[in-house]
Formats: sequence, C-alpha cells, structure tokens
Amino acid sequence: MQIYMRDNDFIVSKTDIKGRITYGNETFIKMSGYLESELLNSPHNILRHEDMPAIVFKLLWERLYEEKSINAFVKNKCKNGDYYWVFANVTPSYNEKGEVIGYYSVRRKPKEKAVKTVEAIYMDLLKVEKKEGLDGSFKLLKSILDSQGVSYDELIIELQK
Ligand SMILES: Cc1cc2nc3c(=O)[nH]c(=O)nc-3n(C[C@H](O)[C@H](O)[C@H](O)COP(=O)(O)O)c2cc1C
Repeated sequence: MQIYMRDNDFIVSKTDIKGRITYGNETFIKMSGYLESELLNSPHNILRHEDMPAIVFKLLWERLYEEKSINAFVKNKCKNGDYYWVFANVTPSYNEKGEVIGYYSVRRKPKEKAVKTVEAIYMDLLKVEKKEGLDGSFKLLKSILDSQGVSYDELIIELQK
C-alpha cells in the first residue's frame, strides 16, 4: 500500500561516507516502520524498493563523490512492505577542515504529477536495466533527457515545480 508524506513534512537522514545511517529524524523513523535501533548503522539501502532502477543510485553516488548535491525522486520501502515517494536532496557534510565526513538527505513531499511521470520513466529504465544492465539504462535515460532538451537537474526541478 502506498503511504504519503504530509505537505510540510521533512524526512531527514544522515549517513557516514559509506552510506550507513547515522541519524534519522522522527518522521524518517516513523515513515520507515523500523525502530531507530534497526536503522542506525544499517546501510541506507535498507529502504530500497525493488522498483527503483540502479542507475538513479549510481548517478547519486557519482554526484556525491564529486562533492555535489543531487535531487532525485525516490520510491522507498517500509518495513512492512508499504512504500512512499519522496523528493530528495542529498548533499555531502563537511567537518571544520573541509573534509567530507558523510552525507545527508532532506526529503519533501513530491508533486503528484511528478511521481506519475517518474514512475513511468523508472519502469522503462528498470526493464532495460534487467536486460542490458546499467549501460542500457544510462543510454535510455540520456535519450529521454536529450529528446526533451534538458539536463537531469533541469528535468527534476521542472517536475517538482
Ligand atoms: C544521505 C543518503 C541518503 C540515502 N537515502 C536513500 C533512501 O532513502 N532510499 C534508498 O533506497 N537509497 C538511499 N540512498 C542510497 C543508498 O545508499 C543505496 O545506494 C541505494 O539504496 C541502492 O542500494 P544498492 O546499490 O545496495 O542496491 C541514500 C544515500 C545517501 C548517501
């Protein structure tokens, strides 16, 4: 069953540099259906939904390794199998020496229309990925962006407007 973020909710989590959860706000914990103790120190893929194409997470990590932030629509899976969509902004965290010490994600309720569009794109990406791997889904994503004459970031921002 799909569950929904509320209009003014923020779901926040932090990870170490390997993507293990080091913090989650109350909304993050509640939506996930896990206990805080089950989430802390677990890899963030504990919430991964099988409908998510791997290419999205590949792009996410590539961006983070370049010390840039990234926006993405993500379908997450709760402990009981329910799911929820988020509009996420994921960013590196720094210490006082300017070194990356981890990452954090702030998620807001995604626009309904954006979810419909993204859901269809992700289904296509996943289908190609199952047959042709990440090269296939990368090519398809690129061709979708090229056909609309937009970059990844432009598409995401436009969808959430
Ligand atoms: C700060 C941060 C937040 C993340 N949040 C999520 C999330 O909510 N859901 C998710 O599936 N992956 C999230 N990821 C990505 C996961 O680390 C992982 O790359 C993804 O779940 C795919 O896992 P897999 O490559 O092991 O299949 C996040 C990563 C970072 C750094």
